[in-house]
Amino acid sequence: MKAIVLESYGDESSLIYREVKDLRPKPGQALVKVKATSINPIDWKIASGSIQVRPVVGLFHPKKDKILGGDVAGIIEEINISENNKEENKFKVGDRVYGLKFALVGGGYAQYICMDIKDLAIIPKKMKFKEAAGIPLAGITALQALKKEGKIKIGDQVLINGASGGVGTFAVQYAKALGAKVTAVCSEKNSRLVKSLGANVIIDYKKQNFIEHAVENNIKYNIVFDVVSNSSFSKCSKIMAFSSSYINTNFSTDVISRMLIGNIFSKKKAFMNVVGSSRRDLEYSNKLFEEGRLKTIIDRTWKLEEVPKAHAYNKLGRTVGKNIILV
Ligand SMILES: NC(=O)c1ccc[n+]([C@@H]2O[C@H](COP(=O)([O-])OP(=O)(O)OC[C@H]3O[C@@H](n4cnc5c(N)ncnc54)[C@H](OP(=O)(O)O)[C@@H]3O)[C@@H](O)[C@H]2O)c1
Repeated sequence: MKAIVLESYGDESSLIYREVKDLRPKPGQALVKVKATSINPIDWKIASGSIQVRPVVGLFHPKKDKILGGDVAGIIEEINISENNKEENKFKVGDRVYGLKFALVGGGYAQYICMDIKDLAIIPKKMKFKEAAGIPLAGITALQALKKEGKIKIGDQVLINGASGGVGTFAVQYAKALGAKVTAVCSEKNSRLVKSLGANVIIDYKKQNFIEHAVENNIKYNIVFDVVSNSSFSKCSKIMAFSSSYINTNFSTDVISRMLIGNIFSKKKAFMNVVGSSRRDLEYSNKLFEEGRLKTIIDRTWKLEEVPKAHAYNKLGRTVGKNIILV
């Protein structure tokens, strides 16, 4: 099969489109013919060889035939049933499925991938592969941040910093669907889109800092979801309600120290969100999609061999919604 292989750590020139060995599913896995995958910032962070990823991806160079890509949407081609697992019988060859592969393991930038069946969900009839491929990593990050860490409730005031990107466009929609009042932080050029996704208030980050905005308007948020992760719990604490959460998506000592000690003693909590595969969350997303309350915003689509270009584009940090790779 053809795949994009990470030959060495570095920039997008390290990603090579070439032939790799065909795959066979292990017990409990399905072989999925990939129809679409998507780019997430974690993919180019792994490709760059950041120190945190090397113990898993390869200490000095990436492991042989290393394929990135955590998002998968495709068609089941083969199923290897494991003993005593009825769950796997729910799926059959030919099913349209999607799911999340742990990003450090990856494998989505390829014509085929072996997926653990527990990580798959059926794609609704009206959802296109390219729409499905945007949801698992970015969408489920947003949903889990709001539900698991944020414990979102109807009527909550939720602020989403970075509302126009992959995670942010989903976060606005999930927060809205879960009954929150959404304040979205984005630039003016994306404000119309973000408003159309359900944001109640828009703050143009180029004109006003969201902390100043909240102080001036005496607003206290139940959830501050700092998708861009350019603020901190310490700075946001004064705009957070008595019982509230600050959630970011990237490692910060401010959040980690709060998670280790501060969270125990205060109802103002800080979390670093780490997405985990969840069929239940995909099925909830299916429900919202079918009700017309969730959609994947697609910035650009690319061919599999164009992954290096798509990485370079995503790295600029200006993506609106998702970059989808059609395989
Ligand atoms: N921990 C996890 O499990 C996990 C999972 C998913 C993602 N993440 C992390 O979450 C971060 C966001 O991911 P993503 O996929 O949403 O990225 P993305 O799609 O590449 O984000 C790009 C968007 O960010 C906006 N943006 C850039 N600077 C901004 C600022 N200062 N204020 C507000 N908006 C700004 C841009 O809008 P403008 O062009 O208008 O600036 C653009 O629309 C990444 O660091 C990623 O690694 C972590």
